[in-house]
Amino acid sequence: MNQQTPQFSRRTALKTVAAAGIAGLSASKGRTMEADNKTAMTLAADENHWASIAKDFDVNPDIINLENGYWGIMSRPVLAKYLDYVQRVNRDSSYYARREYGKDLATVMRRVEHELGANKGEVVLTRNATEALQGLIGGYNRLQAGDAVMFADLDYYSMISAMKTLAAREQCKVVNLAIPEPTSHDGLLEFYSDALKNNPNVRLLLLTHIGHRTGLMMPVKAITAIARKMGVDVIVDAAHSFGQVDVDVDDIGADFIGFNLHKWIGAPLGVGAMYIRQNRLETIAPNLSAEEDEKDSIQGRVHTGTMNFAAVMAIPDAFDYHLKIGKQNKETRLRYLRDQWVNKVRDIKGLEILTPDDARLHAGITSFRFAGKTSVADNKAIVEQLLHTNNIFTTHRDGVAKGACVRVTPSIYNSAQDCQKLANALHRMHTTL
Ligand SMILES: Cc1ncc(COP(=O)(O)O)c(C=O)c1O
Repeated sequence: MNQQTPQFSRRTALKTVAAAGIAGLSASKGRTMEADNKTAMTLAADENHWASIAKDFDVNPDIINLENGYWGIMSRPVLAKYLDYVQRVNRDSSYYARREYGKDLATVMRRVEHELGANKGEVVLTRNATEALQGLIGGYNRLQAGDAVMFADLDYYSMISAMKTLAAREQCKVVNLAIPEPTSHDGLLEFYSDALKNNPNVRLLLLTHIGHRTGLMMPVKAITAIARKMGVDVIVDAAHSFGQVDVDVDDIGADFIGFNLHKWIGAPLGVGAMYIRQNRLETIAPNLSAEEDEKDSIQGRVHTGTMNFAAVMAIPDAFDYHLKIGKQNKETRLRYLRDQWVNKVRDIKGLEILTPDDARLHAGITSFRFAGKTSVADNKAIVEQLLHTNNIFTTHRDGVAKGACVRVTPSIYNSAQDCQKLANALHRMHTTL
């Protein structure tokens, strides 16, 4: 198990740790101290630096994987630790689970709380973001018949289903918004403010911090503040934001948040987290399977049954690696890679880029659509063409009010050249569509 992380409080301490992490990477990998002194912006464009980091990832060389939104592969150091833990758990079996896991889990929880900027008792581990958000949405107990719940076209499929199921169960109405396209930061605030004013029955709002369909990054903190003034609770789906951007629970601002650790933190598959702000626990009913002694704590808001112990044990290692890269460095590099292809396809007539250039409204993920190519079949065909003629792997996304699209998600092991290849492929494709 890793170092015991002291119980810091929030933002300032986190930033200090992040800064220390950059130096740690260079020292441990023998990289030059010069690199440490570059700002994240300069470092983002340093292909040599990122090429050396890419060596930490065992990536299939046969494809250019620009679909890193599904989950984030572990770096080699994290994978090695994880495999050790798998062996240990398998060898020590129930002896480990019954006698030692509790202590390890407590250490892991302090670390997770610390990295999320949360207080002790505000976080519980889940197997993914879905489980966290199901617990929050399914357990939300403040609705009365005739109230309404609100969500949008860009939210995640299963969270939309959960909101609809909740509404049906509580005899509430559903307000399903179509996020304007194109949009702007202030436009989004006005849009949500108007939507809430026009639907005064809404009591619960689902917001997705970084959308999986187009990559739009919502100003969740500002929208949550607007909602709060109107007496509306907000559940934030942060499956894609934590680790892709340098955020913690205060930056998100909501009382109820679902996180993934296996997307952008690079933990093994099968770990996520639920956050409930301290004084809001009562708003989420205990899980159906909660045991009596869990009902007064966040542990009772989710009931996973047996977890993958080894995956949980590897969480601090994943955070260590994440901090070694540097939270700001990673975020800035992902944004840089996004710009590398986006800026090179701007001149393609009819190609729509579905996230605004305003840095407040996107991170690394961005989708595109060729004008008029709005069906799922159209976009699946584009994905196939990119793969078969260029070895570039992307994915189509549907459910966007204005039509399907293709999503591009670089990771830190991708190069600017990968993005250039995508831009070239889109230029060639445009002439054939
Ligand atoms: C926005 C968003 N929310 C939730 C999820 C669900 O994550 P998981 O399948 O890891 O539970 C995803 C997965 O891609 C997502 O993109």
